Amino acid sequence: MQIQIDQARLLNELQTLATFTDAEPDTEGTAVTRVVFSADDLRARAWLKELATAEGFEARDDAVGNIFIRWVGREPNLPAVATGSHTDAIPHAGMYDGTVGVLGGLEAMRALKRRGFQPRRSIELVMFTSEEPTRFGIGCLGSRLLSGTLDPTRAEALQDKDEAPLGTVRTSAGFTGPLSSVRLPASHYHAWIELHIEQGPLLERESIPLGIVTSIAAPAGYCFTITGFGGHAGALLMPDRKDALCAAAELILSVEKHTLATGAIDTVATVGTCAVHPGAVNSVPSRVVLQLDIRDTNPDRRESVMQDIRRDCEDLRQRRKVTITEELVNADAPAQSSPHIVQLMEETCSSQGIPYKKMVSRAYHDSLFMAALAPMAMLFIPCRNGVSHRPDEYAKPEDIALGTTILAQVLAKLASE
Ligand code: GLV
Ligand code: MN
Ligand code: MN
Repeated sequence: MQIQIDQARLLNELQTLATFTDAEPDTEGTAVTRVVFSADDLRARAWLKELATAEGFEARDDAVGNIFIRWVGREPNLPAVATGSHTDAIPHAGMYDGTVGVLGGLEAMRALKRRGFQPRRSIELVMFTSEEPTRFGIGCLGSRLLSGTLDPTRAEALQDKDEAPLGTVRTSAGFTGPLSSVRLPASHYHAWIELHIEQGPLLERESIPLGIVTSIAAPAGYCFTITGFGGHAGALLMPDRKDALCAAAELILSVEKHTLATGAIDTVATVGTCAVHPGAVNSVPSRVVLQLDIRDTNPDRRESVMQDIRRDCEDLRQRRKVTITEELVNADAPAQSSPHIVQLMEETCSSQGIPYKKMVSRAYHDSLFMAALAPMAMLFIPCRNGVSHRPDEYAKPEDIALGTTILAQVLAKLASE
């Protein structure tokens, strides 16, 4: 099916969405910070719903703020075909992560409608709440709750850095009702597809315009609290110290050492935050909280790295006389794409002579959890130098338009099944 994407409009909308930001302007690119339930996030949500309703699509949101934009099909009782992504952005990020899948999904629906296509199954665009873990420490909050992967009671009690629980924050943002109501039944969707920038270098390096994701690597998150003994930076004698930050430094290097030691390109680990208490230049750190993000295509290998790190923690406890507690945030399984949707994507590309690459997603996405709910697959487009989570993140307009075209064509096929 020939599809005409309105590339100029889509680009314009991506740029408008990027103006809902809390970030200081950056000379390197378009800096975007849009933390879940911040004023900018709420403005972005309202704007997205306006775009959708102006097009005649129905919009609703659930108790955690996931937005559902539905184009009702000829047989509305059949399980719908869904697409989407997220619009929240980590601090000082770029303007394409997640947004391409949301606005591209909307444009794909509009393009099909303009063409006179009438879907048999409803087609639904989903904008997930808090794909990014910035505020509540755990990523994919909305899709975890939709798929029943996160206990609603635990979710409700998650706290932000000001110790405000999700329950309070979401209610103030206008999202009420029990979190248990967010979960969707297994038969709710016929298929799920997410369009996203690759966030890695492979497509650009190989000059391939499209990636078809065959699996998503398994992420895990841990929080380590190291407690030592603080005091005056001048008066507390060196032999008497139990400096929590020195212990944390060793722990961070242990993470790097054991991750590298697997020798596998697919094992990656990052300590991305380090909160030092009391955080004064003339005070010996008494407590440090570290957040660890560790991922692998092979969850057993990921766990064996964790075992090595735990052994080093034991050594640190003895040697540095500190306490170290480990809290599991999440330990997820990898997800496999649906062979059927992958095949549809391959046929759609091949029949138009469009080169593609089948690939693993090392970044996680809401699709990791949507796979528990429906047959899932993802489409990747290249991004410059593989850069993401930075203001200089960039995807070419023609790549965005091509990804959106293939998305529309595959949605049309799935909606006709
Ligand atoms: C998603 O943003 C990820 O961290 O993979
Ligand atoms: Mn991201
Ligand atoms: Mn993303």
